[in-house]
Amino acid sequence: METLTELSMVLNGKTVPVRSDPRSRLSTVLREEFRLTGTKVGCDAGDCGACTVVINGQAVCSCLTAVGQLAGAEVLTIEGLRDSSPEFKRLQTSFLEHGAAQCGVCTPGMLVTAATLLQAHPEPSETEVMDALGGVLCRCTGYRKIIRAVIHANQSQQLAGSNGNATTGAALGGTSVGAIHRGSVGERIVRLDGLRKVSGQDVYGADEWPEDSLVLGVIRSPYAHAEFSFGDLAAFVEGTPGIHAVFTACDVPGKNCYGVHPAFADQPVFAEKIARYRGEAVAAVVGDACSMATFDPAAFAVTWKQLPALLTPSEAQSPGAAPIHTARPDNILVRGRVVHGDVESALREAAVVVEAEYETGFIEHAYIEPEAGFARRVGDRVEIQCCTQSPYVSRKDIAAILGIAEAAVRIIPTAVGGGFGSKLDLSTQPFLAVAAWHLRRPVKMIYSRTESIRSTTKRHPSKIHCRAGATADGRLLAMDLQGEFNTGAYASWGPTVAARVPIHGSGPYKVPHYRALTRAVHTHLVPAGAFRGFGVPQGTIAQEQVYDALAEKLRMDKLEFRALNALTDCDPTITGQVLGEGVGIRACFDALRPRWKAAHEEAAVFNAQNGSQLRRGVGVAGMWYGCGNTSLANPSTMRIGLQRNGRIAIHMGAVDIGQGSFTVVTQICADALGVSVDRFDLLPADTDVSPDCGKTSASRQTFVSGNAALLAGKKLREEILKVAGGWPESTHLHLSDGGLHLYEKSLRKHVVLHNLPLDARGYVLSAEITYDPPTKPLDPNGQGIPYAVYGFGAQLAEVEVDLELGTVKVLKLTAAHDVGRAINPTLVEGQIEGGIAQGLGMALMEEFIPGKGENLHDYLIPTIGDVPHVESILIEDASPVGPFGAKGIGEQALIPTAPAILNALYDAAGVRIHKLPATPDKVRAAILAKSGSGNAHA
Ligand code: FES
Ligand code: FES
Repeated sequence: METLTELSMVLNGKTVPVRSDPRSRLSTVLREEFRLTGTKVGCDAGDCGACTVVINGQAVCSCLTAVGQLAGAEVLTIEGLRDSSPEFKRLQTSFLEHGAAQCGVCTPGMLVTAATLLQAHPEPSETEVMDALGGVLCRCTGYRKIIRAVIHANQSQQLAGSNGNATTGAALGGTSVGAIHRGSVGERIVRLDGLRKVSGQDVYGADEWPEDSLVLGVIRSPYAHAEFSFGDLAAFVEGTPGIHAVFTACDVPGKNCYGVHPAFADQPVFAEKIARYRGEAVAAVVGDACSMATFDPAAFAVTWKQLPALLTPSEAQSPGAAPIHTARPDNILVRGRVVHGDVESALREAAVVVEAEYETGFIEHAYIEPEAGFARRVGDRVEIQCCTQSPYVSRKDIAAILGIAEAAVRIIPTAVGGGFGSKLDLSTQPFLAVAAWHLRRPVKMIYSRTESIRSTTKRHPSKIHCRAGATADGRLLAMDLQGEFNTGAYASWGPTVAARVPIHGSGPYKVPHYRALTRAVHTHLVPAGAFRGFGVPQGTIAQEQVYDALAEKLRMDKLEFRALNALTDCDPTITGQVLGEGVGIRACFDALRPRWKAAHEEAAVFNAQNGSQLRRGVGVAGMWYGCGNTSLANPSTMRIGLQRNGRIAIHMGAVDIGQGSFTVVTQICADALGVSVDRFDLLPADTDVSPDCGKTSASRQTFVSGNAALLAGKKLREEILKVAGGWPESTHLHLSDGGLHLYEKSLRKHVVLHNLPLDARGYVLSAEITYDPPTKPLDPNGQGIPYAVYGFGAQLAEVEVDLELGTVKVLKLTAAHDVGRAINPTLVEGQIEGGIAQGLGMALMEEFIPGKGENLHDYLIPTIGDVPHVESILIEDASPVGPFGAKGIGEQALIPTAPAILNALYDAAGVRIHKLPATPDKVRAAILAKSGSGNAHA
């Protein structure tokens, strides 16, 4: 590259010349020129703080700093701090001990900012921590563990030799983090991939690329519905310096169509003649990095003709509305149905009936890592390294798109900087695959924040209408639920949402008469897909507010009403399934009761003293959630092997998106095998190497992959005991470098592993087991066994409402969740706290409006200042089929938060907001309308 400037700066203690254009962002220069990829980029706009570095002693967003300003400046990145700063090393240890890093993509920015705080304030208060970290967003953790980690950093040991080279936390456990834990089920061990995260050495989608990569950009529709035609593309390529190629639908070698549900696959890689939503891809442009950095999509040779768009389900279902897909009449993608009993008769007989409708909008996943990756052609195969939650499904779709065998596609997942469901769908991968296939050169792509928000899936907007009735003594009698979901232009996970919501619409309660009918409706909007809960959070917002109103009509305590109606082990669910064991919902309500009473008393005292403007309220909501796919095969295969060096290789095809599945699954396997977790080597997902553990979705990895790991561990143990000479099951195993030790009472045996023969998988001994949960198909009325395991939970929200301003401050969340068995309580709490933050956002601030808010300063997610104190109460009512009794928690944690907050809002201010989010303007309008001094609606 030509030298553009004589600029130099002191980077991590060394004076270095800077060759990039002085107008370049420091973040770009650090990552591209110096390959210091510990500094992350989440927005390039100063909104997320992921790119924070230290410049002349101050924490600064490097994406907002032109490198030309930095002549002679001292710049410290995470790479420099981890080698030099004692505060930073203590923070690393504290983050690990407290479980403050989940996906880890915000972690470098958090650590760098916190290190500058600790230099100035070695023992900061909670307020000082929250003020200092206010500009760094985290979408995973709910911030509480980060706050605790920073406050307590000075009590942590420095991380010895923290160069981040260790690949497992087990190695860490042996070097620096207090006691060496064996890692049994139930232990709070440090996450096994934690050291990489707190060292800035985890590799995310944008962090690695071959040196000779070209760069790909996508041309997208500016309109919700448009016809388009291309100009002379060959002339465009010819006449645009640095551009190597353009690809459109006619360049897709195989099928220009993919989708997560094969029966509903409808999404093209590149639209053909018609674009069905704003942001849909029509072409890809590939060029060298410099040319693509300045490429203006407006210069592309395409002509648009805007067409009338169907922007709401009502418009899409109106008489005469044109079909968005010809094979889907009335623009209905799919319907869902669960029916039992006689709802109408029961509602007529009910002593009280409540009817209400609640609406929610699109919710953006807003993970801090935008989609990114690279692809290269290797002979007649293609390899794609990218962030994804579903490598094996992606492999299948890419093979079909390229028209090649699945075995000719290799997907190598990177660390995932947050997914929450959206990275189940393809994003960059088809474009990269098509381009690399044709060009036979590596091609990389990183979505901008705007591109990520504009084009990737969202939570389904919903309109849920509920009628529910109860007897005079407070027994639920009937529920009638009608749900409409705006699924956008393509199917994505719409079929799953339409199927899941009717199964969960009763909540975790006995409802003798039940009817739930749902439909997913196409519009000319961005596709709605999977987002933590697959529609169940939207349904629960309606259901739990209606139940609250029923209890009020009955003059019953709202928690006791729920406890009275809670399912027990022997009750049939609304699909007729009797779980038999492990139904812990009543225990969750029991656990909340003390705080419920105390919170009401405290709120009453506060309101008596301050009630004219500030009012406090308390709300509760329950939830249940089926783990895994709905009545579908859902297998996970786990392979483990005893190596000659005395370590256990575990092939982890399950992608850890931050929730901690690497750690949890390994703890389960270690316990089953009977060895310490620090003897395990994690081999992360790679479709060429690791067996298929299925998607990371639907709270299935702990349950499904955990069971596969449990069985594989047991099987390998059996093999070891057999091969060692028929030792009894009660034998203790101990592995050391190159050796296997067996102990049983006074008997001892030592087996040297170095010279033993290897099996076909390359191990001394190995086991590979597939686990598929026992489910049964649903009949036309939705009766059957949709899930083998449900998780249960209930949350209690305490809020303070400013009646004048309409603001709602959440003071505290108490969350009781039945997780069956907390394999690693720290990680379970992390899921709960993170889920609560997302639920709070859904209740009070988040709504994506297509065409607006395509960035993180207009689309607001909770910051560190928005999250309440969280008290997690873990209930362990073991599932008979869960590994060690464990159930999932990933989706469960978010589901009751919004309705608990909304019920607390009602308790405080007497208003219900029927169209979320409950922003101050809506709350204020509802308060005015209630008091008769306004007619605004909410
Ligand atoms: S990348 Fe700089 S603030 Fe988001
Ligand atoms: S851990 Fe903070 S964004 Fe994922």
